[in-house]
Amino acid sequence: MKEIDWSNLSFGYMKTDYNVRCYYRDGKWGELELCSEETLNIHMAATCLHYGQEAFEGLKAYRGKDGKIRIFRPEANAERLQSTCRGILMPEFPTEMFCEAVKKVVKANERFIPPYESGASLYIRPLLIGTGAQVGVHPAKEYLFVVFVTPVGPYFKGGFATNPYVIIRQYDRAAPLGTGTFKVGGNYAASLRANKMAHDAGYASEFYLDAKEKKYIDECGAANFFGIKNNTYITPLSTSILPSITNRSLMQLAEDMGLKVERRPIPEEELTTFEEAGACGTAAVISPIERIDDLENQKSYVIAKDGKPGPISEKLYHKLRAIQYGDEPDPYGWVTVID
Ligand code: PLP
Ligand code: COI
Repeated sequence: MKEIDWSNLSFGYMKTDYNVRCYYRDGKWGELELCSEETLNIHMAATCLHYGQEAFEGLKAYRGKDGKIRIFRPEANAERLQSTCRGILMPEFPTEMFCEAVKKVVKANERFIPPYESGASLYIRPLLIGTGAQVGVHPAKEYLFVVFVTPVGPYFKGGFATNPYVIIRQYDRAAPLGTGTFKVGGNYAASLRANKMAHDAGYASEFYLDAKEKKYIDECGAANFFGIKNNTYITPLSTSILPSITNRSLMQLAEDMGLKVERRPIPEEELTTFEEAGACGTAAVISPIERIDDLENQKSYVIAKDGKPGPISEKLYHKLRAIQYGDEPDPYGWVTVID
């Protein structure tokens, strides 16, 4: 194998040795199968190709200083995938099998887990697709669950550093009562134009307001938003954002640090009041926000006045990373250790 430059990995796909698959046929899930083939052979009328019966997840495995491999909150991803399945009428994949599949694929690709010192990790991408042929708009009768892995570096160049975001009003990622709370591919297809607009204009990512009124903060691209002021961690309550497992973990850690935690609608104007803000997610971890530009209204909400991550975001980032890499105790049992 060609030597991997662990410290300079980007957030991209790299071929690994194995993936794990499981087929749903005749109303039940089969056995987990270890597979070394990268491609899928599916029917051209599969519902995932026409009607978007597709769900995915994202989680990571980390190599600790002690050499052990840790997976962060796989049960939570399993539960979110089940919620997505209910959202687009796919059969739920059981939590125990999900965790088993994740462990199996990580173990089988152990040589692709970046070393502790590199700060990189192994991204785990489970997906569940409708494979049964259907031309009428109905759920498929057959499904395929796949989980593959790929070693990744930081989602945003520069790692833990502040970034600028831009409010995009022309396109919505998800409707107020649509699929925003589910991790379906369609939401990401809907985000591509906004994301390109933001990148072309030199921003790290697009910033969404709520689709109905364009008044409240929704999400920062493929990450949740949090703001900090007056010793309080504030994150949006909305019917169109993805329930982030990173955000849920940060809310707990913030509370443990003595911060108040609020989950409520956040009006755009409140951006002027935050002492710190960040985007959070598995890929993004915490990506501190430098400023958010509202180009249509010629406004720029500058959050990191000195361009640097704020002290609370930094503390939260280090605490979360320490638990994920096994440097500090895991009081909530978030981590699954693989020996
Ligand atoms: N919001 C969106 C739209 C995402 O795609 C993600 C990534 O999974 C998140 C938020 C963050 O969620 P999590 O922390 O569970 O990775
Ligand atoms: C994640 O954080 O896991 C994501 O899914 C973000 C993006 C790569 C879609």
